[in-house]
Amino acid sequence: MKGILLAGGSGTRMYPSTLATSKQLLSVYDKPMIYHPLSVLMLAGIREILVISQPTSIPALQSLLGDGAHLGLSITYAEQPEPRGIAEALVIGADHIGDEPFALILGDNIFHGAGFPRLLREAQANLDGCTVFGYPVSDPERYGIAETDADGILVSLEEKPLKPLSDNAVTGLYFYSPEAVEIARGLKPSARGELEITDVNRAFLKDGRARLIRLGRGFTWLDAGTHDSLLAASQYVQVIEARQGVRVACIEEIALRMGYIDAEECHRLGVRMKSSQYGQYLMQIAAVAA
Ligand code: G1P
Repeated sequence: MKGILLAGGSGTRMYPSTLATSKQLLSVYDKPMIYHPLSVLMLAGIREILVISQPTSIPALQSLLGDGAHLGLSITYAEQPEPRGIAEALVIGADHIGDEPFALILGDNIFHGAGFPRLLREAQANLDGCTVFGYPVSDPERYGIAETDADGILVSLEEKPLKPLSDNAVTGLYFYSPEAVEIARGLKPSARGELEITDVNRAFLKDGRARLIRLGRGFTWLDAGTHDSLLAASQYVQVIEARQGVRVACIEEIALRMGYIDAEECHRLGVRMKSSQYGQYLMQIAAVAA
């Protein structure tokens, strides 16, 4: 399975913080935001990842993540010159996707919860068409919304409805069969001038090929696209990390645990950052794994 990480948008809601950098490079407590969606793809076992961003942000993303080889990944980059919608990522990523199923994740989405890797594997194994992940929120009008029938079967998907039919938000993680690219190519821009990912999902739903997996209330899903939500996400990560003594979304640790890198490489990555607690953590977990 291939991966697409969309780190797009001009981050206008976070000006002036994003005037000179991309939102996905801002820090969520102790690490760049983009580590979170990258972790999700890694936990799903996805190693070939295309990062899509606006042209001015690509050099900084490249200097952060490189070609991914140090994490046992292959990371490539493509430009989205204008923020023309999430579904445009499927068109931009067409060559990368080829005829393989793929996952798309948004660069400002944060997922955290026990059992997530197993859920991701199960979603991949049963993929036919599209799989979306639902999460209960208190402000459903801000999101894509999934409505289900009494048996929990997905019956409708709406983008930012004025009168939401449920509180079940569609998160920014999507699994697709390769036909999604053709569907995206055929889309017309919405009233806000964007190629809506919800329209891709609706096309699969119409064919009975869209599935919803609910992330329960014991799970955490956050987006970090505003100053307040970024601060909330930072506080969340700080609380978990301080309490448990582990790091959330530590890409080097995931690479080590997935067997993509060995303890020696993890140690080397830690040494590069040894004056930070993050670097010291990498050296510690490498020593335990050696
Ligand atoms: C996008 C999608 C929306 C989804 C959300 C998740 O909204 O259009 O369906 O619920 O991401 O983060 P946006 O963040 O572009 O407003």
